[in-house]
Amino acid sequence: MYYTPERSEQEICLVQKKYEPQFELKTESVFAQCNGYLGVRAAGGFPSLDGKRGMFVAGFFHRAYKEEVTELVNGPDAFGFRLKIDGEEIGPDRTDMPEYERRFNIHTGELTIKERFCLKSGSRIKVTERRFASVENPHLLVQKVKISMETGKIVKGELLSGIDAQQTNSGVSHFCKVDCRVYERRFIHVQGYLEKDALSVLAVCQSVDGQKSVPVFTLARRGILGSYQFEIEENGCWEFEKYIYVQKQSDQVPLDQQKEYLKECKSAGYESVLDKHKNVMRSRWKKAAIQIQGASLEEEAAIAFAQYHLMGMMPWNNSKSSVAAKGLTGEGYKGHVFWDTELFILPFFQYVFPEQARNLLDYRYRGLEGARAKAREYGYQGAMYPWEAASSGEEETPLYAALNIHTGKATKVWSGIKEHHVTADIVYAIWQYYSMTDDEIFMNQHGYEMIFEAAAFWVSRAVWDEDRDAWVIRDVIGPDEYTEHVDNNAYTNYMAHYCVSLAVKLTDKVEQEQPELCHRLQIGEKKKQWMQFVEKLYLPQLNQEQILPQDDTFLSKKCLPNIEKYRTSQIKQSVLKDYSRDEVVDMQVLKQADTVMLLNLFPQMFSPQTVKKNVLFYESRTIHDSSLSYCAHAQACAAIGESEIAWKFFQKCMVIDLDENPNDSEDGIHAASMGGIWTCVVFGFAGLSFADGALHLNPKLPKHWTQMDFYVRIRGRGIHIRIRAKELWLKTENAKGEPLQVQVGDQKFILKEQLHVEYAKGEEKVT
Ligand code: BGC
Repeated sequence: MYYTPERSEQEICLVQKKYEPQFELKTESVFAQCNGYLGVRAAGGFPSLDGKRGMFVAGFFHRAYKEEVTELVNGPDAFGFRLKIDGEEIGPDRTDMPEYERRFNIHTGELTIKERFCLKSGSRIKVTERRFASVENPHLLVQKVKISMETGKIVKGELLSGIDAQQTNSGVSHFCKVDCRVYERRFIHVQGYLEKDALSVLAVCQSVDGQKSVPVFTLARRGILGSYQFEIEENGCWEFEKYIYVQKQSDQVPLDQQKEYLKECKSAGYESVLDKHKNVMRSRWKKAAIQIQGASLEEEAAIAFAQYHLMGMMPWNNSKSSVAAKGLTGEGYKGHVFWDTELFILPFFQYVFPEQARNLLDYRYRGLEGARAKAREYGYQGAMYPWEAASSGEEETPLYAALNIHTGKATKVWSGIKEHHVTADIVYAIWQYYSMTDDEIFMNQHGYEMIFEAAAFWVSRAVWDEDRDAWVIRDVIGPDEYTEHVDNNAYTNYMAHYCVSLAVKLTDKVEQEQPELCHRLQIGEKKKQWMQFVEKLYLPQLNQEQILPQDDTFLSKKCLPNIEKYRTSQIKQSVLKDYSRDEVVDMQVLKQADTVMLLNLFPQMFSPQTVKKNVLFYESRTIHDSSLSYCAHAQACAAIGESEIAWKFFQKCMVIDLDENPNDSEDGIHAASMGGIWTCVVFGFAGLSFADGALHLNPKLPKHWTQMDFYVRIRGRGIHIRIRAKELWLKTENAKGEPLQVQVGDQKFILKEQLHVEYAKGEEKVT
């Protein structure tokens, strides 16, 4: 791990102890302040040549030009500052800096940067910057800067701090107009306009040492700069606080109300506003925390870190936006939403914060019209969800990406056109959510309609194959994006089959309860065709070696000869620097888990021996060029009790964003992998699943984990679970509610309030 974990009481911090420019971009993503409404990269206040400032507000998308894709706008920056001391400008890039520390508190989300500078005059100063994004009021950002004199004094200090709307998305500027204003000689307001919305940033600052100097404001190009003057005696200090209110114009909080709120924060002061934020964080952690005895501090930190970001990427109170592949921490993947959300991120929310899981599914309902339009455009029926989504539900995948090494031209990205499994992944998530929550209202309002429309798509997507006497699905990309234009990708076919079978199973019930919906979607006419599809869809079968073919041709391709070179490379997708995409497609080489994902989603489908065989077979051909890969392999191995292999993969997935590779995570953290860490621990090591109305536990903790405590909510009941090597306890939050069926190994129990099970060697015993 590149960062040093440190514990103080219940909290863990990750610490970067040296200023290392090559780690700047990565650390800005990893240490970002995110509260679900917005995320701010952890770029220090001082200007830096190596960093990239960024503030991203959930759902604030824009497409700048016809040829560009829609992207999450990089909003105005309000944390940057410049510092001048007796005429000398200070900063890590220009001043002798003997000490540097950037500290990120995983449990509170607070960032602290400490820098010690030796000035030309011989004086030594310490600059401490603290900041957080409030979860108590997610529109609020707070910053505090303290300048302490260690030797010498300052006669004329000047801090320049304002709001800067010159940020771009890698050169693309989104605002067509920026308004800047000062109110009451203290509030600064910058508002960047898009055609249909605007992003407003209002800030007020104060120095907290009683120096009453009046700031001087200057209008800059697309921003306002405030100059705050101060003096410091030897051993003295000067403190400065900034309260920032961020909102989309469409959120409609009146300006006066924002000002009032900022005034209140200002008079309460940094610590008091921070305390309120911490209280809400604490209440979330009470549910989210996974406590593991026997785990190293690094392991604990990595698991908690994943949960911090999961909570930070979730737009808590609305379904207008969803979770992007990089959360709110960077420009990567343009803020788009992928299958990552439903299959990697949603499970954590489904089991811990089910209301938020519902929001994620409601977001997909908002995109249903876009999905219908995409299906129509390609000549299919029903709804075909976009591979990459933003705000409208339309397809947002860029058309071109990496260069072809032979032709020098940009290579076409086929995912938006051919990667269709997302339409079944969403259905899988809907059904998982419903099975655990019994949320019939959601199903009636949105769930059934999405399932039926997805089923209609799949049936129209298949074609009849005379030779096979079966429906087949041709020319797709499965989860493994190094294999394009294949027929009968096993993952896709099994998922399509699952989706249509589910629709068939539901038709009678929904026809009775929701005749209007069924009439509108013409379910009566479609049902028969759906049943034929379920009966006759070709599902790839295990071959003689017990391998499930990834698709019709995969097993007949040659292997990539020097795969280790790419598996060990620090640069992702380096294989595309030696081979063109077409050459890669023609080889047995995987970017990421494909068939292994299927094994995770349907753990009962194959025997543990078959799972192991397939995981080992496909893993040896996988470069893990996607962050979705290690977690999938770890979970699959943990679930069949192959703890040592699982641990090997889990170690890699724990540090996807935290390892010593400076190139990873530059443009944002890997959101799916954060979710994957949770699913590995809970589905894999704790062996938890919910099926047929029962909670199943089949724990296989890594040897050195002696006890694991975590919380889940099932059918409205909060349950605390404690697992040890040979026994486990379940305790419900309150005595009310239906008893819950629990299965440990093969033994069945009923959970009313508490349960204690000794489960060693399959001889489960309840006490
Ligand atoms: C992976 C996809 C994933 C996307 C966003 C790609 O590199 O191949 O499976 O959905 O990244 O995380």
